[in-house]
Amino acid sequence: MGWTMSDEAPVAALEQLNRLWDRGRAFLGSDYAILGGAMSWLSDRHLVSAISNAGGFGVIACGSLSPSQLDTEIAATFDLTGRPFGVNLITMHPDLPQLIKTCADRGVSHVALAGGIPPASAIGQLKDAGIRVLAFTPALALAKRLVRSGVDALVIEGMEAGGHIGPVSTSVLAQEILPAIRDVPVFVAGGIGRGDAIAMYLGAGASGVQMGTRFVCATECVAHPKFKQAFVRGHARDAVLSVQLDPRFPVIPVRALANKGTHLFAEKQREVIAKVDAGTLSAPEAQLAIERFWAGALRRAAIDGDVELGSIMAGQSVGLVTKEEPVAEIIARLIDEAVAAIASSTRTVTPSSREQAAFMR
Ligand SMILES: Cc1cc2nc3c(=O)[nH]c(=O)nc-3n(C[C@H](O)[C@H](O)[C@H](O)COP(=O)(O)O)c2cc1C
Repeated sequence: MGWTMSDEAPVAALEQLNRLWDRGRAFLGSDYAILGGAMSWLSDRHLVSAISNAGGFGVIACGSLSPSQLDTEIAATFDLTGRPFGVNLITMHPDLPQLIKTCADRGVSHVALAGGIPPASAIGQLKDAGIRVLAFTPALALAKRLVRSGVDALVIEGMEAGGHIGPVSTSVLAQEILPAIRDVPVFVAGGIGRGDAIAMYLGAGASGVQMGTRFVCATECVAHPKFKQAFVRGHARDAVLSVQLDPRFPVIPVRALANKGTHLFAEKQREVIAKVDAGTLSAPEAQLAIERFWAGALRRAAIDGDVELGSIMAGQSVGLVTKEEPVAEIIARLIDEAVAAIASSTRTVTPSSREQAAFMR
């Protein structure tokens, strides 16, 4: 058509981006509404402070840390950044009330409750302490329930994500939940590797995004070099869902890069199922053997570097991770890509002189 993009387009697009995620930025108190999704063993003081210092919002993964270990991690993170960050608590943790108290005593501003439906008592304890509560939801009905129970923001995470996942894709969850939930900010997670995708979900009504896989190869991330190499080499199709061989013995759905451990896990299931069928093993014993197979496996891969037998939890966006680089560069590129995507979709157009002349005739 001969239209040319005006020079003001990128500036206008940046302003548009700021408008699109203004609610998310205000909620988080960060420059960009990009949450660094908590990753067990990896989201420690170093990665979290690097994400927050680069304008995003880092989140400490409490995982199985004790209250005193969490206390140390929060204090160390405050030493490394003056920017806001959050803490991710797993609701099944036996010391949940004590962990919440630790966050409150340390002046943590935001807590994300993960790993199942958050108990009303935990939400109440956090709100009484003046802490903003984020909760995960895999379905619209639960999203509505969580909003009614007082959570301040929601994270919807699709099955493209790395780690423990739900059954529905990010794009479908976004279509179901974003138009229906307006009372609280909603952050979209799962499969986001470029700024174009951030712009897309913001355009669909998200207040921001959460990303995990994209930050694993950050220079500031403590992951073992072999774990990072596996990410750099990995393609989207390599990040597969844990296989369940028999509906009698459920397997927790986890997305990770396929390795020798993945094959041995299938063998283990075959072995214990055969024993149950032969009457030499009880069903509860078989279930326990299946559940224990991956115990400690993320740590083995991510920290010890055993990428053959450990669990290399990774999302499908792993194919977009091509090198190790500082968090600030990752975030700067995401912003550039988001701005470029917005500029090309809402570009200010001016007709070329030939078209103007044709119009005048
Ligand atoms: C290695 C790894 C470990 C993770 N550990 C946790 C965790 O401990 N708690 C949690 O709520 N989510 C965890 N997640 C999910 C992330 O917080 C985030 O929601 C997810 O990575 C977003 O999808 P993406 O991987 O496609 O970016 C983990 C993800 C990865 C890749």
